[in-house]
Amino acid sequence: LSHEILFVLFSYLLGAIPMGYLLTKRFAGKNILELGSGNIGSTNVRRIAGKRLSIVTQVLDMLKGLLPIALFMCFDDKASASSNFIYFLAIAAIMGHNFSLFLKFKGGKGVNISLGASLLLAPYSVLISVMVYFLVKWQFKYVSLGSILLGISLPITELIIHGLTSTFYYLCICCFLIIMMHIKNIGRLLKNKELIS
Ligand code: G3P
Repeated sequence: LSHEILFVLFSYLLGAIPMGYLLTKRFAGKNILELGSGNIGSTNVRRIAGKRLSIVTQVLDMLKGLLPIALFMCFDDKASASSNFIYFLAIAAIMGHNFSLFLKFKGGKGVNISLGASLLLAPYSVLISVMVYFLVKWQFKYVSLGSILLGISLPITELIIHGLTSTFYYLCICCFLIIMMHIKNIGRLLKNKELIS
């Protein structure tokens, strides 16, 4: 196996560790898959187990994305933001989180992990998208709406700042995945039945 395949495997498997699920099970004795929205992300962790555990989940979910990218950048001399392999690695981590081997290929919606994975590849897009998220959340109170607009802001900001780069196409995939994973939320938003915050 080439070290690139090992890196992809590592990235997928790290992404697949369902932090929200494990933390709520261990520290709150609850099965997050059956409570609130049923999602394993930090928003649902906050609903069912409080702010502290939610922050831990958020940080760990972001690190699952950041770590493989940072390690690959450190250990592979060919790696740079211009090497397309690194985008593949980021997508592998996000796919691991969204379709986890440890949860029968269910998982989260990939917002925190996309932010972590993109932090070194597109820092300004991440920063601006997070600001968009907070603005939308503050205005409309729906986390899911904030997440969807965060996802859309990722490629748009990259396009505005750097043009049609590989990073732009990578962020389009992130955006597509975020929107796809929020299909049920979109349905609830349209019916005015979405959970507030
Ligand atoms: O990142 C997930 C968030 O946008 C929505 O989570 O639990 O309300 O479906 P939830």
